[in-house]
Amino acid sequence: MSPPNVYVFEAPQDLAEATAKAFAQEAKRSIRENGCFAVALAGGSTPKAFYELLAARYRNALDWIGIHVFFSDERTVPPDHKDSNYRMAYEALLSRVPVGSVHRMRGELDPPEAAVLYEKELTAFFGGPPGFDLVLLGVGEDGHTASLFPRTPALNVNDRWAVENPVQKLETIRLTLTVPTINMARQVTFLVAGEGKAEALKKVLEGDAPPRDYPAKLVRPAGGPDWFVDRSAASLLGNL
Ligand code: 6PG
Repeated sequence: MSPPNVYVFEAPQDLAEATAKAFAQEAKRSIRENGCFAVALAGGSTPKAFYELLAARYRNALDWIGIHVFFSDERTVPPDHKDSNYRMAYEALLSRVPVGSVHRMRGELDPPEAAVLYEKELTAFFGGPPGFDLVLLGVGEDGHTASLFPRTPALNVNDRWAVENPVQKLETIRLTLTVPTINMARQVTFLVAGEGKAEALKKVLEGDAPPRDYPAKLVRPAGGPDWFVDRSAASLLGNL
């Protein structure tokens, strides 16, 4: 397998700026070539600075009406809940730029119903299997990505585009894109920052830890994912 594309940035702000620049380049290319840019946003806290910077610096630099926003995963909470990935993205970005459409995972609904609804929304938008131009992901300290947590049922689902996923250790059910959906994307970019992620990043990028224990290892799109990481998260990596 080709060596991973790892880009290390000194500080989280440098990471946010580089990610915003890469996002803008991908968006411009997709809109130029295909007339639209379909992106799945990452949840969690890491992307917040990048979303805010996108809204602040690229408000007038992108053809936002051609940008269609989906989500890599969602918590089973209403969209105004403090833990909602949609709420974070709305406050940091979506309320500040005129995107063409926003496709929220409906965390307020019964999880299986929400997952089926999302799959219908995906296939309606893409006219078939979901082919994202870009999927943005984070990595948890346990090596999870999206809501694909270690040793959870969703890791083995290969005949769905999005599913509900019971996460026992969090005592909750999450909604997530599946591995096949993520791996069909033209580009997948991980955003990883902070010393707390160093161990997980090393396990995912180096060594032979089983993917069921470090689900981020399951992300293998055709071109290989890009890793945008800060110096702290990269501190345990070897040959950089
Ligand atoms: C979520 C995310 C999850 C996240 C990682 C990293 O819903 O929590 O989608 O996969 O990206 O847990 O989260 P932080 O960026 O908060 O460290």
